[in-house]
Amino acid sequence: MAEAVVQRELWTERDPRVPPHRRIDAGGHPTIAELEDAIRTNQIRSIGLLAVERKGSGDVIGYCGLADSGRGAAGEPELAFELLRRVWCQGYATEASLAVLEWARTSGYERLWATVWDWNTASRRVLAKLGFTETERKEVDPVHGTTLFTTRRL
Ligand SMILES: CC(C)(COP(=O)(O)OP(=O)(O)OC[C@H]1O[C@@H](n2cnc3c(N)ncnc32)[C@H](O)[C@@H]1OP(=O)(O)O)[C@@H](O)C(=O)NCCC(=O)NCCS
Repeated sequence: MAEAVVQRELWTERDPRVPPHRRIDAGGHPTIAELEDAIRTNQIRSIGLLAVERKGSGDVIGYCGLADSGRGAAGEPELAFELLRRVWCQGYATEASLAVLEWARTSGYERLWATVWDWNTASRRVLAKLGFTETERKEVDPVHGTTLFTTRRL
């Protein structure tokens, strides 16, 4: 439950181009209590977002995992990650994702997807380092940017 505070901080740090439903609203939602509830009811099986914890200090710096969004293809989960700004550019997203790719492989998945805004250079670089390749598929949103669909065979 303590990780709700980290999750709330991730929400407050999001880029202004991220759509409103993923940003703190005018009423301050989601609150820490609401995020605690979401963690409490979250069931991790072969899918889910895992806390990223640093081995040395044991602090939680964000999440990385698999979402069953169905946006890529049915039965092929989506890789997702988000880290606190103060730890960016130290290779953590790449390291955490490699562990998640291994988890996905041992769970029996054969292909993963990842969607990314065209303007999100850091995330596109992480996905390229992980071996994800861009497909023809794109979703254009005139306000927030274009979503690119990338994929990787396991
Ligand atoms: C995307 C994110 C998780 C990356 O985390 P990270 O731990 O910094 O990633 P890594 O250190 O493993 O790799 C980042 C790479 O992007 C590069 N990079 C970062 N910012 C960049 C920029 N503005 N321009 C060019 N390259 C950039 C880094 O140099 C590094 O590449 P390199 O290893 O070739 O030098 C982090 O930026 C984040 O949380 N962003 C907000 C949430 C988000 O966008 N999630 C993904 C949604 S698809």
